[in-house]
This record gives sequence, C-alpha cells and structure tokens, in this order.
Amino acid sequence: MCLADAGIVRVTYFPGAVPEDEPSYAVSPGYSAPGAEIREYDEDGFHVVETSLLRIRIRTEEQKVDFYDVATDEPLLTDEGGFGRESKDWTGDARVWIRKNLQETEHFFGLGDKPCALNLRGKYFSMWGADHYDFHEESDPLYKSIPFFLSLRERKAYGLLFDNTCRSYFDFGATDEKVLSFGSFGGLMNYYFIYDNTPLDIISAYTRLTGTPELPPLWALGYHQSKWSYYPDKAVYNLVERFRGLGIPCDAVHLDHHYMERKEGFTWDKQNFPDAEGMVRALEKDGVKTVLIVNPGVKVNSVNPVWKEGMERNYFCRRSEGNLLSEEVWPGLCNFPDFTAPAVRGWWADLFSRDIGKIGVRGLWNDMNEPVVFPDRTFPMDTRHEYDGMPCSHEKAHNIYGQCMAEASWLGMKRHAPDRRPFLLSRSGFAGLQRFAATWTGDNRSSWEHLKLANFQCQRLAASGISFAGADAGGFMGHPTPELFCRWMQMASFHGFFRNHSSGEFGGQEPWVFGQEVTSYVKAAIEGRYRLLPYIYTQFRRYAETGMPVLRSLALQCFTNKDTYWRGAGDFF
Ligand code: NOJ
Repeated sequence: MCLADAGIVRVTYFPGAVPEDEPSYAVSPGYSAPGAEIREYDEDGFHVVETSLLRIRIRTEEQKVDFYDVATDEPLLTDEGGFGRESKDWTGDARVWIRKNLQETEHFFGLGDKPCALNLRGKYFSMWGADHYDFHEESDPLYKSIPFFLSLRERKAYGLLFDNTCRSYFDFGATDEKVLSFGSFGGLMNYYFIYDNTPLDIISAYTRLTGTPELPPLWALGYHQSKWSYYPDKAVYNLVERFRGLGIPCDAVHLDHHYMERKEGFTWDKQNFPDAEGMVRALEKDGVKTVLIVNPGVKVNSVNPVWKEGMERNYFCRRSEGNLLSEEVWPGLCNFPDFTAPAVRGWWADLFSRDIGKIGVRGLWNDMNEPVVFPDRTFPMDTRHEYDGMPCSHEKAHNIYGQCMAEASWLGMKRHAPDRRPFLLSRSGFAGLQRFAATWTGDNRSSWEHLKLANFQCQRLAASGISFAGADAGGFMGHPTPELFCRWMQMASFHGFFRNHSSGEFGGQEPWVFGQEVTSYVKAAIEGRYRLLPYIYTQFRRYAETGMPVLRSLALQCFTNKDTYWRGAGDFF
C-alpha cells in the first residue's frame, strides 16, 4: 500500500517477485503527490494507517484492506472476499480480482463512454477498447477503457481507479447485489482509492492524479463542422462560404479520409487538393481551422516513405514469431507502429512536420486506434509491444494502444507548432486520455435514443476526467428528422466538444439542410454557444488547473439528494 495524498491510497498486490516499477499509463508523470502525514498502529488484530481523511484497517493475513472516514469511523469501502488470484499453467488462466461489500444505499457513476443511464448500480461492464459501429443502449465494451468509477451514498462518496491495462471488468452488484467486484484477465491488482468531501472534489483529485489537460485553444471550444468527407477543396471552400454567407459561426472543418492519396496517411490527394497549403491558409484567414483525420495503419507500399522508414527502423508491431503484423484497414494491407515504444512515438511526432509545421493544419483526429482492423477485429493477441520497457503481448497493451497513439500525435503538434496549444481528438483512450486529447463517442445513429445516449456519455466522460467530449451531433449514421437535428444541435451546444459529423451516406447534415425554420433555430443554438464561450473557456481553465469537470450531472452536483441518482429500466436521466 502506498499513500499519494491524505485522500489517495494506492493498493497493489505483488504475487512473487514482480518488479514494482511497471509504467502506469494512467497516472500522469507530472503528478506529484503532496505527501500525507500518517499515523500507524496495531489494534484489535488490524494494522491501522491513518491520514487526516482516512482510517485504513489492514488484515494482513487475509490480505484485506478496509477504508473508513477518519472523523466518524464510518465504513467507506470494506473487503468482502477481498483479493483473489488465479494463475494456472495448464489452462493458461490468469486472473486477479477483488470483492468488496456493496452497501445498500450505494450508487455508481463514471466508467468512461458506457452508453447507458448514468447510475451503474446492478450492472456489469467490460474494459476492452472496441469499435462498435451502430452501438446501442447497453452496448459494452465501446471505444474507450476508463477504469474509474465513483460511489455515492448521500453523505459519502469515494472514487476508485483500477490501474490495470488488461481486459478487465466491473460488477456493481449485477451478480450478487451485496458485492461490488472488479478484476482483470492478467496484470496486477493495482487500484487507487480516492476520498474527498464531494464527488466533484473526487473527480478533480482523480483528474490531477491522471493528469489535467492543457487549456484548449479558444477556437476548439467553438463549433466544428465535419463529414465523411468534404472533398475536393472546392467543396470545402463552398462549405465555409455558406457558413459565412448565413452568418453561422464555425471555427473548424474536419477532413476525413478523402483528403489523402489512396487513404494513405501523411499524403494529400493531389487531384482533389492540388494546393493543400494554399487551402489551409486561406481557410485560416477566413477564421476556419483545418483538422485532419489520421489512422494508425501505415499502408504496405514500397514507395511510401513513411512505410519505408518504419520498416528500416523496425518500428512496426511484430507477432510472437518475429513476423510483421499485417492487417487490412482503409488503405489496404497495413503495418502498425508500436506506439507503446517511446522511440516510435517520437518518430510519429516528427511525421507531422509538414502538415502541422509547414502547411498550418491546426488539429488532428485519431481514429481506428482501439485498434481496429478489418473485418471487425483487433490485433492478434500474440502481437508484441514494447510497453515502455516492459515488453508484453497485445492482451496487456490493447487498452492503451490508442492512448499511446494520441500521445505521439499530441507530441507532433507540440513539436511542430510549439507556439500553439494543440487540438487533438482521439476515439480510443485509457484513464488519463485527457492529458493529450479531446474525444467523441464514435459511430452513433440519428435517433432519439442516441440523442439521449449522447447526453449520458458526455456527462459520464466528464465524470471520468474527460470534459472535452462530444458526440457526433445529429448522428453519424442515418438522417435525422428536422426536429431531431434541431434538438440535437441545441443539446450539443452545451457539451464540451461541439461537432456535427456524419457518415455522408445519408445526405448532408449541415445547419441549413433542414429548411429555413430549423436553420434559424440551429443558428441560434450555435450563436448561444459563442455567447457562452467566455464562460465555457473559464470553466475549461478551471478544469485545466484543478481537474474540476466542466459538465456535471445533477447527481454529482447534488449528491446529498438521493432523488438525483435515478436508476432503472425507464431511467431517462
Ligand atoms: C470511423 C469514425 O468513427 C468516423 O467518425 C469516421 O468518419 C470514419 N471512421 C471514416 O474515417
């Protein structure tokens, strides 16, 4: 056990001689524990450790750890079965788990992008980053793996981060209503118990532990327009002209696949974008920033300098027998940088010298980084990863691959546009993603159900340290009715990240597509966002400095009122 703070305690079970210095992708390297004054003594068969906030009773023999409020001696979280572990050579099973007592009045929140009602009590969830085209309510797992949850029970709250990157699970009383359990299929039992006065203070503490983000550039908090895809350049110019003509504010245009030559990263399609730099600069002059999609797969192509260099430097992932990992994605057969190696992240960062440094692209959009390969799969489990000096298989690196890609892309923006605050969007991530990127909730649908889910997901992400989050406003798949579109844009104008994105297959989804009346309402919603921008910017500043979430569910804001905890099948909030 190790104390980072009076209210933050790390508990790790080391079976045998496991080295203690395993990298943590969740905890920020910049986190400095303020240190805590502690008192230790033995009492009634327990070893007791006390801080100004917590009393921790440890039953050493049974390996059980119980947390109490130091002032009232009220139990906060106590072990039921406690720690368990299974590692069987003959079956290959490797599991660690922990079982805690679930109190009758306890309710749960957090856990990243899960698409269900906010209160998680009675549910079971997995952590395994997955592309889930056309997900729906209760789909699990989705793109991100944020193993952090909050427990609320009127006067008391705590948070818990399970810092383990292997496939893991959380059971909030689904199997046994008296038991809260979590565990993983590999790695260590390694968790942080976080205690403070209110849920918002706990989220702030968690966010400081896993890293506060930099303040985003002001424009990135404005309105973004996207589609799969706007091309050729003339279509982009026309788009911006239309916004300007109608007087609808827009700060960014996102370019999906079609800006690239044969969908290969770090290229521009010369036919459709003969003067990329000229276009990016002209848009910038008009107040519109260009954001480019970038996928992890590097096309196997002997004339592609990125592929050649990656091969020469041996930067692509290999399988257990040493053969290259080659899989199909958008451009065809690809190899995949091992972003868990610092040298590879540095190399990737420098690939942006042209787009970011020279051309003046202002934002990057990391997609497909769960990672996903066609058809509907991820890397084979025997894929090897450097894991920052502790090599391992994909079983352990899967959940942080996307975040490591985001880190590399973020580094590219910092290096090649050092005077600017970066804007990066990443679909996948682990605890701590907010250090590098904003996020969106993936491939949703134009339906009322998804409008509801988008609101849950954005609030849940904010409760999980990621306030800069949005859903594709209007829906990615399908075509919204005018009313749905209007309501969605109105709602999304209050989310951290405000982007209208759609698959383009079902017709346009720009603010003016749904008739004059809707256009005027949507324009008013976007203008409302801009009127609120000084406030939103200030809230983001506070978030960047203290970790305080920008979007706050009522339950977190008013946790002493249990009527805000809603749960159940018809749970709308
Ligand atoms: C999947 C992403 O979720 C979506 O936003 C994007 O438009 C497509 N990939 C194509 O790049």
